[in-house]
Amino acid sequence: MNTIIIKNGILVGPDSVRSGDLAIQDGKIIPPGEWNIESEKEFRIIDAKGKYVLPGGFDPHVHLALPTPAGNSSDDFRSGSRAALAGGTTYFMDFVTPRKGQSLMEALNLRRAEAKESLTGFGLHMGISEWNPKIAAEIIPCIEKEGIRSFKAYLAYRETIGIGYKELRELMQIVGPGGGLVMVHCEEGNLISRLQQVFLTEGKTGAYYHALSRPPEAEITAIQEVIHLSEQTGCPVYIVHTSTRGGADAIAAAKRKGIEIFGETCTQYLLLNDRVYDETHENREVLPFIISPPLRTPDDQQRLWEGLADGTFDVVSTDHCPFHLKGQKDIGINDFTKIPNGAGGIEHRPALLYTYGVLTHKISLSQWVNLISTRPAEIFGSGGQKGKLLPGFDADIVIWDPEYKGNITVQNHVQNCDSDIYDGFAVRGKAHMVLLNGKIVPG
Ligand code: URP
Ligand code: ZN
Ligand code: ZN
Repeated sequence: MNTIIIKNGILVGPDSVRSGDLAIQDGKIIPPGEWNIESEKEFRIIDAKGKYVLPGGFDPHVHLALPTPAGNSSDDFRSGSRAALAGGTTYFMDFVTPRKGQSLMEALNLRRAEAKESLTGFGLHMGISEWNPKIAAEIIPCIEKEGIRSFKAYLAYRETIGIGYKELRELMQIVGPGGGLVMVHCEEGNLISRLQQVFLTEGKTGAYYHALSRPPEAEITAIQEVIHLSEQTGCPVYIVHTSTRGGADAIAAAKRKGIEIFGETCTQYLLLNDRVYDETHENREVLPFIISPPLRTPDDQQRLWEGLADGTFDVVSTDHCPFHLKGQKDIGINDFTKIPNGAGGIEHRPALLYTYGVLTHKISLSQWVNLISTRPAEIFGSGGQKGKLLPGFDADIVIWDPEYKGNITVQNHVQNCDSDIYDGFAVRGKAHMVLLNGKIVPG
C-alpha cells in the first residue's frame, strides 16, 4: 500500500488556509480526482481532524559537523537531521567549507559523503573561503555540472574563511551571469578584528566583549555595501541572519529599488536579545549565546518581526550550529575570540515561530508556512517540488497539532548539545506526524 489519504485537516499553504483532504502516492501529492473514494479501504487513511496540514519545513541555513578549532559543531548529519524531523523540518541546506588550497570539487565530494548520513533530504551551498583564479575557474562548473547555484561568502572571520569586498565583487561578477546567487554573512571583518584586539589588549577577555566587538554598524555597513555590489554587478544576493533594524531597513529599501535581494533572519534574533550579555552575568552563563552576529536590542527585534509581515524577509532560518558548553564553548572562557560561534535551533523553528508569531498575530498561518517552507524552497531552486501542498510536489508533509502545550528543555530536546538557548521557552503546537517522501517518519 503506497497511497495515503490525509482527511479532515486544515490545509495551510502560502496563500490559503482551507479544510480538505490530501492524497499521496509514491512519494508525491496527487490530484484530488485521481483517487477513488469508493475504494478508500485500500488506502491508509490518516484522520487530521483539528490539525493543520502543511508542507514540511525547509531550513536553508544550517551548519552540521562544521569544523572549527574547538572541534566540529556538535550535531552531525544524522543527529541534526533527526532533530529537524522531530520539529517538522523535512529538508535543510548546509554548506561546503573548503580548506585553504583545496579545490571546490574535492571539498564538495567530501561533504556529500558526510551528508549521506542525513535522515532527511538536504542540499548544499558552496562556501568561498578564499579567492584566487583557481577558485574563480571552478564557479561555473559548480553551477553547470554539479547543480550548485548558491555561493556563500563571509565578510567576517577574516583570520580564517572571510573574504573582502573586492573578492566578493569578483565572485558576484561570475555568479550573476552564471545564473547563481550569492549569500553573504554581512559583518565588517576588519572592524571586528580591530575591536577584538583592542579589548584583548585592555584585558577585556570575557564573553561579554564578544557582542561589543561586533556592533550593529558592523552589520549595517556590510549589508549596505553588499547591496551596492549587487546593484553594480546585477548578481542576486541573499543576506543571511539579519539581526539589526538598520540591516532590515537597508534590505527593504533595496527591494523597493528593484534589486534582486532576499532577506533572511533567524529565530534567535526574533526571540532573544542582548540582555543575555549583561556584564554582571557569569561568563559561563553567557557562553551558549555567543553567536555571530550577536543578539541585539528589543528595538531591533521589533523591526525584525515587522519585517516578517511586511515582506522585508523572505525566510526565517536557524543558522543551526550547536557546540557543547563543556569542552567546546568553554575553551574560550578566558578569551572570547576563542569561543566557537553558533547555537542550535533546527528542531525548534516551526514551533517557536508558530507560538510567538502566529499565536500573537504578528504573522498569519500562511506567512508562517511561507517563511519556513515555501519561500526558501523557491529561492533555492526546489520550487515546483517542495514547499507547497500541490499535485506533483514531494509528499514532505507535517501534521501539526495546535493544541499541544510544552516547554523546550535541554533534557527533552533532540539535538546533540548539552545546552539550549531556548531552554525554558514555552511552546504551543508541535509536529504531531511527519511524512517524508510520502512515508510516515517513526515517532
Ligand atoms: O555564530 C554563528 N552564526 N555561527 C555559524 C557560522 C555563521 O556565521 O553563520
Ligand atoms: Zn554567518
Ligand atoms: Zn551560518
